[in-house]
Amino acid sequence: METKIVEFTKPVLQGDMAVPGDKSISHRAVMLGSIAKGQTQITGFLDGEDCLHTIDIFRQLGVSIERDGTSVMIDSPGMQEWETPADNLYAGNSGTTARLMLGILAGSTINSVLTGDESLSKRPMNRVTLPLASMGASIAGDSDSNLLPISITGVTLSAIDYEMPVASAQVKSAILFAGLNAEGTTTISEETVSRDHTERMLLQFGAKIRVDGNKVHVKGGNVLHGTDVIVPGDISSAAFFMAAAAMIKGSSVTFTNVGLNPTRTGIIDVLESMGARVEILEKVDGIGEPYGTVNVSTEGLRGTEISGNLIPRLIDELPIIALMATQAVGTTIIKDAGELRVKETDRIAAVTSELKKIGANIEATDDGMIIHGPSKLSGGTLASYGDHRLGMMAGIAALVASSPIHIENPACIAVSYPGFFDDLEKLTVSKNAKG
Ligand code: S3P
Repeated sequence: METKIVEFTKPVLQGDMAVPGDKSISHRAVMLGSIAKGQTQITGFLDGEDCLHTIDIFRQLGVSIERDGTSVMIDSPGMQEWETPADNLYAGNSGTTARLMLGILAGSTINSVLTGDESLSKRPMNRVTLPLASMGASIAGDSDSNLLPISITGVTLSAIDYEMPVASAQVKSAILFAGLNAEGTTTISEETVSRDHTERMLLQFGAKIRVDGNKVHVKGGNVLHGTDVIVPGDISSAAFFMAAAAMIKGSSVTFTNVGLNPTRTGIIDVLESMGARVEILEKVDGIGEPYGTVNVSTEGLRGTEISGNLIPRLIDELPIIALMATQAVGTTIIKDAGELRVKETDRIAAVTSELKKIGANIEATDDGMIIHGPSKLSGGTLASYGDHRLGMMAGIAALVASSPIHIENPACIAVSYPGFFDDLEKLTVSKNAKG
């Protein structure tokens, strides 16, 4: 198995960084640009593997998509003119691609089969296929359409009123996309608001959508028109370096052009409640998405509690937060995060097992983790479980470990952050960095 060795001696993180484009927003920009008729220019696109799978899928449907690095030009005939694909549509490791595509394809005019890699083929799809079935979707797959591969026959859907049983932007977005083509007005109610990138971008593309507190209404029969989308840096990628700067005294990192959508900034709240210094140097309410410049530095960390409405605002950051908690004085309790068990891997089990290997005092609970700090971490071999966020957590652990960290299967990091190790080296002031 491929292994990457990461080692630092007395590292400090210093400098400015612009993290790659936001994964959630990049997916949605390709999806809406392909649904819409005409041209869509995307700037700041994330050229990670997950988003490239989304591009490949729409190319198979007959949409013209040219990409030059992080610039993407889409020219679509509009979804009514999509072609039935010759092959299965492969979502790779990407839950966002799979779940949002189910909502899109259910109300399209084509027939298709959606597949994924081994990890994605184990993740639950019925959170999407059940509400879609109640809209009249024609969907068939193993275990009552819970598991990929799933075949979808595009039909005319009917609107629904749906109360979300889980806080999931993927589920909300799939139903919103289905609602675009359904007869009537679809309403989705959320107890806890999940990331709202789809709602913001639908407005940009001219959809008939209204957000009213915790409810979103979308009218069927929308004809969307291509537009330009600017993707800010992904705060979920920045979070790894924010946590690193917060753990290591003497560090100061300035994140430029980073997304500051309030449904995603839970990491900033946690950094502050743990005692890190976070300064928002600039905030711009861009077209569609807010972004800005943020500096993170530290004088040491203390434990905190993370639960309730905060969880969806930092769900992808919990692995790196768990690592950060090992360096904080006191206990950190993470609860209400049972969703971690159905991510790219069971992140509660995986984070607990890997951090224990290098000396963390961490225990798993049904819906979270309890971490007692501070702990001196040793080096060791950490499995990524093929999960990009576990791989990056291991890379950042090398900054606080007393000897090298060997990361198994580090290639999975390319799903969301292909240049992660380069950025890690660039930011770290250390004569002995290697890896
Ligand atoms: C995402 C939503 C979240 C998140 C995932 C991306 C999205 O998943 O964990 O990385 O782009 O909508 P859930 O909807 O399952 O919470």
